[in-house]
Amino acid sequence: MKRIGILTAGGDTPALNATIYGAVERANALKIELIGLQRGYAGLLDSRVPHVYLNPLFTAIPELDPCKGGTLLGSSRTYLDATVVDHLELVAAHVKKLKLDGLICIGGDGTINGMQPIAEILPCVLAPKTIDNDLGLNYIDEPNEWIHAPKAGGGFIEKRVPTRDTMRLDDIINYATPGYATAVFVVAQSIERLRTTAESHRRIAIVEVMGRQSGYIALGAAYAQPDIILIPEVPLDLNQLTARVTQLYDLQKHAVIVVGEGVRDADGRELGAAMPTYDPAGNIRYSGAGDTLADMLAKSMGDDVFLEMRSFEPASSNMFTRKIGHTQRGGRPILFDRFHASQLGGKAIDLLASGESNEIATIQYNSDKGFTLSSIAANKLRDQWGEIHPREVHPSMYDAHRMQLSEFGMDYLKPIFTNAIGLDDVEAIRTQMFSAGSLSNRYQSVNTDIRKRIRYV
Ligand code: F6P
Repeated sequence: MKRIGILTAGGDTPALNATIYGAVERANALKIELIGLQRGYAGLLDSRVPHVYLNPLFTAIPELDPCKGGTLLGSSRTYLDATVVDHLELVAAHVKKLKLDGLICIGGDGTINGMQPIAEILPCVLAPKTIDNDLGLNYIDEPNEWIHAPKAGGGFIEKRVPTRDTMRLDDIINYATPGYATAVFVVAQSIERLRTTAESHRRIAIVEVMGRQSGYIALGAAYAQPDIILIPEVPLDLNQLTARVTQLYDLQKHAVIVVGEGVRDADGRELGAAMPTYDPAGNIRYSGAGDTLADMLAKSMGDDVFLEMRSFEPASSNMFTRKIGHTQRGGRPILFDRFHASQLGGKAIDLLASGESNEIATIQYNSDKGFTLSSIAANKLRDQWGEIHPREVHPSMYDAHRMQLSEFGMDYLKPIFTNAIGLDDVEAIRTQMFSAGSLSNRYQSVNTDIRKRIRYV
């Protein structure tokens, strides 16, 4: 392997530059050239093929900062369509012109699907990332739990057979994805700050967090001690929620509810998808589960409850919603993410160098040894029909009755978060947040600097 390409696809995370950095360091050690492709798969389809030499003379370019969120290569949700022959021919021609011997795609499940057809042309490896923490398996046999069930009126729907009751931490394939820990850090900090306003003003705070169909971010929010956690995997029981919130309000005159954006009602309808839109990869874009939940709860609690508890405002005025949004995806990655992201970047280089293709670099957990690096064939994540499903929070991690993290959920989170923040993360806040230089100097965008390095074929 003399020359490897690398790209970042899908939604950004804070740890992408750290993964690229790990790949560059390993490539330097192995004397491999690393070429960054701009804007994910869109760069490979662009006739000019914008790219950047990331390690000229086997030294990382100074623009690559593993402590900075986002990606210096840019990202997009443009995916290759394996059924479009033109796409593949274009990519094959571009890969040849760039003289690439392999490709590293940093991404999630959509990125694996885009990688699959390219793996027929060129060895490809995935370095995982996603704040949703949904790339991986709870146990190796999990994809086989998906079946095709007949649909009324013809055709079929993909359904999951009831899953097993228990699972083991050591069996998880890809324990955590880079970006997840930082997203939870942002969420936990936000909840801590929102809590005091809810407490002072006697409000019910509904905090909506990302994660699409997977409730891992909502689960991690448990570190901020929200009163209730609602995850997409467990249908909402409005009566149970109303009773618990009323009880909490009576007790402490406020409540904090964390809601995963993909949460569903008892009929399986997504609360945040009243008018669903889809991104180019076909992923649903949620419009606001928190707002819908606030409406539902205000109606089900009614105004009288609040009058009785001497809040002289109607139910709806006693609630506020806060969507944490894209702050979850940005900023400095915390130590856990930086460390494991760069390890995975290095592992991706090693996998290609040892002749692997269509493989995913993974982080495994072992109760004796802690975290180790490994890999798995991409196809192992697919069900019988070739589909990759987002990894869901396993029922054993969530206590649906208390609407809280379960004991096993706690066991899952501890290895990730116990030492997730480094001293340097704290020091970075102390020294950089109110740096006088920020007042006198304009923001220097990496896009401006990297543009000076872009080459075209
Ligand atoms: O997959 C990552 C993610 O942040 C999801 O949690 C969220 O639903 C989605 O991306 C938002 O995507 P976009 O930035 O395209 O709106």
